[in-house]
Formats: sequence, C-alpha cells, structure tokens
Amino acid sequence: MKPMRADIYCAIDTTDMARAEALATQLSGHVGGLKIGFEFFYAHYLLGYRALADKGVPIFLDLKLHDIPNTVAQAVRALLPLEPGLLNVHAGGGAAMMKAAADAAAEAGDKGLSAPTMLAVTVLTSLSEADLHAMGVQGSPRDQVLRLAALARDNGLGGVVCSAHEIEALRAEMGPDFKLIVPGIRPAGSASHDQKRVMTPEAAQQAGADILVIGRAITEAANAGEAARAIMADLAASAPAGQAEGQS
Ligand code: C5P
Repeated sequence: MKPMRADIYCAIDTTDMARAEALATQLSGHVGGLKIGFEFFYAHYLLGYRALADKGVPIFLDLKLHDIPNTVAQAVRALLPLEPGLLNVHAGGGAAMMKAAADAAAEAGDKGLSAPTMLAVTVLTSLSEADLHAMGVQGSPRDQVLRLAALARDNGLGGVVCSAHEIEALRAEMGPDFKLIVPGIRPAGSASHDQKRVMTPEAAQQAGADILVIGRAITEAANAGEAARAIMADLAASAPAGQAEGQS
C-alpha cells in the first residue's frame, strides 16, 4: 500500500460543447484535471480541446493510441503541442510501440513543450477471462494486467489506467512511483450506473491510487463544482496526516 493523497480528474463525456465548457468552468479549481476521451475529442477535435484546456485545468487526453510504433510515435508528436498532462496508448500494441510512444513524448522538451506522462491501458475492464481466452490469452485478466503493466514500465511509460480492484496488486508489483489512474469510482450512496465493480474515492485512495477518474457522480450533480469539492474534502479528511494534495 502507498500512503498518499489521490487527485480527481473529471471525465467530460459529452459531445455538447457548451455543456463541456460549462463543466470545465465550474470544475476549475475543484479538480486536479479533466479527462477528454473519444466522445468529446472526435466531436470537437483540437479547437474543442483548446477551449477546455484554456480554462486552466490539466488534461488527461484519453485517446488509447494503438498502431505500429512509427504511427503511434507520430501521433504522439502531433499531440505534443496540446501539452496534455497525461496521454495514453494500449499496452497491447507491444513493447516497441510503447517505447516509441515514450520516446516521442520525451521530445517535448526539445520543442519547448511540457511532456505528457505516458500511460498504458492494459486489459479493458469490459473483457472477461473467457474473452481473453477466446483471444488466445491464457491466465486471468489480473495476470495479464500485471504482465502488461510491467511491460509498460520497462518501456518507459509512467503508469497505467486500471480498475480499482487492481490497485493494490499493481502498487505492490510496480512500486510507489508508477502512476495508477482509476475509473469506476463512486462516492458512498451514489448511483453505480453501468459500472459493475465500483469503489469509493476514499477506499481507492487508501489502496494506493494516484488519480481517480470520476464522471457522472460529478457531472450529473446539481452543482458539479460543489460535488467535486465535497469529494476532494472527503479525500483530504481520510488521507494520511501530512500528505499534500496530489502528492505521490
Ligand atoms: O461516469 P463514470 O464515473 O462511470 O465515468 C468513468 C470514465 O472512465 C468514463 O470516461 C469511462 O469511459 C472511463 N473508463 C471506465 N472504465 C475503464 C476505463 C475507462 O469507466 N475501465
């Protein structure tokens, strides 16, 4: 276990530009960052991205890049001017692809840009053990997650996106500095929606998560800023003494 204070990134899962901008404005100062994924990015591309980033909140650009190493490296280079704080690839692209992505991200400094922390998606949580077997992957999803996380680390990536129930095993295997970014988080008493295996923010922090990705529990609240502020306050109250915000 890693005693630390987790941060919150709010998932902006909408194609509605006005709603996304309003959320970014309400959440500025109340969350550590925003997660922009396929839904918003493919609807609004770079201009939409910049409109949200201009609110001054760090961005996790969740584009799950997966292609041959050269193509992924060029995609990372193309995205560097956006200066996302976090950017991800699929670990299933393999060692050479992850290394190419990490190397491309590291070129940011030469261009006067800040480099994103590069993350890997290991096994999609929508895949069961039977699904993996059908794809020729033996063993449990957890074994595969740990194997791919180690491959990601060994090829220069800074962390993984993982389910809450993988935090402790990954933290134990990967050490204190490997970033664990965790969706499927629900404050106690809130609706679980389509998420089957959820964890509270405090439990995920306690297990060793670095960043909690929270969408609807914040975006569907009557006051998104207030909902985020309340979760951050609960995290602060349950964090080990002396831990600064977001410290890892
Ligand atoms: O609304 P909710 O808090 O469930 O949103 C969670 C966000 O995290 C969504 O953007 C979802 O796509 C993403 N995500 C997830 N589970 C994963 C990976 C990503 O819910 N395993």
